[in-house]
Amino acid sequence: MDLNYEQAVVYIADLYKGQDSPKALDYESQSETREYDPIIEDDIARLFKVFLHAIQHKTILEIGMSIGFSTTILANVAKVYGGRVTTLELNPDVANHARRHFAREGVEDVIDIQIGNAVDILPTLDDAGFDVVFQDSSKRLYPAMLQDCLRVLRKGGLLLVDDTLWPAMLPIEEWDKSRKGIHKFNKQLVLENVESTVVTIGEGCTVAIKL
Ligand SMILES: C[S@@+](CC[C@H](N)C(=O)[O-])C[C@H]1O[C@@H](n2cnc3c(N)ncnc32)[C@H](O)[C@@H]1O
Repeated sequence: MDLNYEQAVVYIADLYKGQDSPKALDYESQSETREYDPIIEDDIARLFKVFLHAIQHKTILEIGMSIGFSTTILANVAKVYGGRVTTLELNPDVANHARRHFAREGVEDVIDIQIGNAVDILPTLDDAGFDVVFQDSSKRLYPAMLQDCLRVLRKGGLLLVDDTLWPAMLPIEEWDKSRKGIHKFNKQLVLENVESTVVTIGEGCTVAIKL
């Protein structure tokens, strides 16, 4: 049977209508800025919640916070298990919008925000200090950050990476650097000591366990 991907997306969205909390769309409509990069889709948020509850992770590192939608999803689960989220963000302006969302959602007490370039911050973080690393920053920098992402992850920890199909599969000139970055990252990751797969939801989401 041929499954039509677009129809499946509509079907799934309908199934979960009114169920997602918080919702990506609410974060977008309640942010008083349009100057931010895209955030994860609701179906990726659901995938994260399932994984995080399954393994009851406590220490979570996010790279690329933006207005903080994914951070809230991670923090809501971390909070249940007495955990914390450390999140790295280059842009101090979007971080201010994220802080307002965190206060409204009641998760600000479990989130540590570090403003700066993740390429510089990652090497300062301890080996094996995190149960989960979520990479969602600059796509062209994914390959350069991969070794540090794996280093700061404990054995058995979970690496989540967003946008691993977009724009790798779209030969659009404007996105050439991102496309090359993602493609290089994808090729590198499969050679690492991980068990991984690419889930074809949203713009593609890679899930890997460090062995
Ligand atoms: C796709 S958005 C993150 C969306 C967020 N994870 C969500 O789903 O709600 C990417 C963010 O990464 C940040 N970023 C890009 N390059 C970065 C870097 N080198 N270090 C830290 N943050 C970076 C951007 O400023 C942007 O806010």
